[in-house]
Amino acid sequence: MKTAKAWRLGIGDFQIMPAPRHRPPLKGPVWILVLVSFVSVLLIGAYIYPPRSSGSCYVFSSNGCKTISDWLPPIPVREFTDDEIAARVVIKDILRSPPIQSKNPKIAFMFLTPGTLPFERLWDKFFHGHEDRFTVYVHASREKPVHVSRYFVDSDIRSDKVAWGKISMVDAERRLLANALQDPDNQQFVLLSDSCVPLHNFDYVYNYLMDTNISFIDCFDDPGPHGTGRYSEHMLPEVEKKDFRKGAQWFSMKRQHAVIVMADVLYYTKFKNYCQPGMEGRNCYSDEHYLPTLFHMIDPLGIANWSVTHVDWSEGKWHPKAYRAQDVTYELMKNITSIDESIHVTSDEKKEVQIKPCFWNGMRRPCYLFARKFYPEALDNLLHVFSNFTTI
Ligand SMILES: *[C@@H]1O[C@H](CO)[C@@H](O)[C@H](O)[C@H]1NC(C)=O
Ligand SMILES: *[C@@H]1O[C@H](CO)[C@@H](O)[C@H](O)[C@H]1NC(C)=O
Ligand SMILES: *[C@@H]1O[C@H](CO)[C@@H](O)[C@H](O)[C@H]1NC(C)=O
Ligand SMILES: *[C@@H]1O[C@H](CO)[C@@H](O)[C@H](O)[C@H]1NC(C)=O
Repeated sequence: MKTAKAWRLGIGDFQIMPAPRHRPPLKGPVWILVLVSFVSVLLIGAYIYPPRSSGSCYVFSSNGCKTISDWLPPIPVREFTDDEIAARVVIKDILRSPPIQSKNPKIAFMFLTPGTLPFERLWDKFFHGHEDRFTVYVHASREKPVHVSRYFVDSDIRSDKVAWGKISMVDAERRLLANALQDPDNQQFVLLSDSCVPLHNFDYVYNYLMDTNISFIDCFDDPGPHGTGRYSEHMLPEVEKKDFRKGAQWFSMKRQHAVIVMADVLYYTKFKNYCQPGMEGRNCYSDEHYLPTLFHMIDPLGIANWSVTHVDWSEGKWHPKAYRAQDVTYELMKNITSIDESIHVTSDEKKEVQIKPCFWNGMRRPCYLFARKFYPEALDNLLHVFSNFTTI
């Protein structure tokens, strides 16, 4: 009893005993013994506690090590502003909530036009026989259109003036979305212009858009003057230069994304205020940057990064190629419908050509459902070849 207690005390005493000030110098064999046991302890420790932190990783293991950046303190994540936290929480919730189930899902065809639509007769042919699977909305910014197709009668929504390249263009797109969202059956929202024509029959277009859960929003990184060169630092902190993207305005988006466009005030206001033609010595066009940048930031995996509306910029002019009546042949239309890669060209000196294959639900497929720009005079030839090239 007494010995046991003394032993325990002894241990304790030894632990708290101050180290002797003058150690006798260690002799050779003892010194080696100490070193060997120290190394053994480290090795046993390394065996029992496999490296988790990069520190021990560096000392004990040659594999499983990460990069040198693991040694550095993590780059601080930018602190979000109140507005940003609020915007992101709403957007996340919309993306997480299951899409509205409709017994009769429809595609909303939204036409952005100054006035009368020259290809209504072609669209009439396209829509015929599919009456319960689509809706039509027309935003005519200059004059009230004269409609020749029954599908377009009563499709005009309240509209306002649209100035090329200004935020009023985005406002018109939002107005079309707001009107089309009122019908809960609308599941896909396609933006088209007066110079757009269909490239396939209705069933093909319907299945292409409905049987996937991504939106076809054009989006690419252009470091040149017509891309990031248009960025203004006034968009900070919410829109950073590295996130600034470019893309054609002609989109097709799923319902959740359309609701997000309605809900967004924060990012929209940034573009409204700081992406304008002739601002700070540069021309920024919101319709080419707002949606690509927004969706790149909030749902990059939810967008295809190409537009389903084909346009030919290969002539390298200020405007894309526009097809006249004599250009419209079966061969031309077949050529456009068979394209299965998207092309983006940067506007810097390098003029880098980015070619990406189009994947639809993981399968290589042709990219385009619609095409622009066609002169009104091309209508008769289009009507003539339409039934031939849209057999699929
Ligand atoms: C789309 O649906 C697939 C399964 O059908 C799923 O794996 C994928 O995460 C979905 N993508 C998005 C962006 O919702
Ligand atoms: C679109 O581009 C982003 C990168 O910006 C990428 O993460 C995403 O996977 C792309 N979308 C598809 C459907 O490939
Ligand atoms: C169609 O594509 C072929 C092969 O790329 C090309 O030689 C031909 O000129 C094109 N025709 C038209 C009308 O665009
Ligand atoms: C369309 O196809 C039919 C039958 O294959 C053919 O007779 C006709 O010449 C074609 N028309 C055009 C404009 O290619």
